[in-house]
Amino acid sequence: MKEPYLFDLLTETKPRSRPAPPCITAPAAKNRPEDSLAALRQEVTACSRCRLRQSATQTVFGEGNPQAKIIFVGEGPGADEDRLGRPFVGAAGKLLDKILAAAGFAREEVYIANVVKCRPPRNRLPARDEVNACLPYLLRQLALIRPRIIVCLGALATQVLLDDKARVSVVRGRWFEKYNAKVMATYHPAALLRDVTKKRPVWEDMKQVRDFYRSLQ
Ligand code: URA
Repeated sequence: MKEPYLFDLLTETKPRSRPAPPCITAPAAKNRPEDSLAALRQEVTACSRCRLRQSATQTVFGEGNPQAKIIFVGEGPGADEDRLGRPFVGAAGKLLDKILAAAGFAREEVYIANVVKCRPPRNRLPARDEVNACLPYLLRQLALIRPRIIVCLGALATQVLLDDKARVSVVRGRWFEKYNAKVMATYHPAALLRDVTKKRPVWEDMKQVRDFYRSLQ
């Protein structure tokens, strides 16, 4: 069958999402990741480990299926995310939704998080000490959700989770094993908004992600 192509899919109005998988029977209450995630969310809400919390409206913890087999990790909240308290809800988020739908993922099926949980002022890159302060939260999210696939969206997530010298243009499209998961880096949706030539490589990466995800079912 001819592969749908991201260029076409991104202009479609009707998303090609697959239905969410049937509910997985909840494990014993004391082990439920959603409970531990809720506790971690409260910790993040009360966090004052770095200066970002002072300028942010609120923390943006992340959202999605607490038992997701796949997590998408971005950089940090922008203005819309800061206002709404949810990750990837602005222009880049709308494009991420289209990318997910094109690859057959329902947003509720996956988990979406960021490296930093507070919006850096004027959307600047988070500083190293801010990343270091916030990273333990992301690592704990990974430990609780235990995804089989981690998709790093953009340079910051790639460098923080894979290798601090990694360049997305070099490492994208290849699988790495880390955090008991397969890790794939690809361009950040915001980069696609600036440079349409990045759509094709992102779609190539997403096809690999989709195929491996399907093999897990
Ligand atoms: N960009 C990100 O990296 N994360 C968001 O949540 C929104 C935009």
